[in-house]
Amino acid sequence: MSATPTGAAAKPFVSHPIRMTLNRRDIQLDVLPWTTLLDLLREQLDLTGTKKGCDHGQCGACTVLLNGKRVNACLTLAVMCDGAELTTIEGLASGEDLHPMQKAFIKHDAFQCGYCTPGQICSAVGLAREGRAHDTAQIQELMSGNLCRCGAYNNIRDAIEEALPACRAQGGEQ
Ligand code: FES
Ligand code: FES
Repeated sequence: MSATPTGAAAKPFVSHPIRMTLNRRDIQLDVLPWTTLLDLLREQLDLTGTKKGCDHGQCGACTVLLNGKRVNACLTLAVMCDGAELTTIEGLASGEDLHPMQKAFIKHDAFQCGYCTPGQICSAVGLAREGRAHDTAQIQELMSGNLCRCGAYNNIRDAIEEALPACRAQGGEQ
């Protein structure tokens, strides 16, 4: 007797072809339907700058810019990114020239271990584009989805406050 239930012939899982612009490069690849954008970046594309802190949408370490908006890559399926424009921490600098937000984080010592930092920086760039943070309290509130166990919050806030005008000039406010 076979252990396979009758009538339940196993179907192979199907990969889906997607295209996206990733850090200004057009790419095309096949992804399984359950692969998250975070795992796609880290495991398949070797872009390990985007971090996995919780995998449940609770820490913000995986924040990337999807069509200019900040999202948690751990809660985004890769297949949902077909046709999207994606920017990760690896795509923010122009060659050797760091993005204004990266420069400000260094200047203000806005990190310690560095694990939350890519998510903090991508989130801050997204925040600048949203055009909603007009004072210190709003910056703190609108960055509250990015946790930092090293407690660099005050320096993160100072860095963002300084870099916001330059980011808005560079990336446009929406
Ligand atoms: S890893 Fe995505 S929010 Fe924590
Ligand atoms: S710098 Fe270590 S968690 Fe933020």
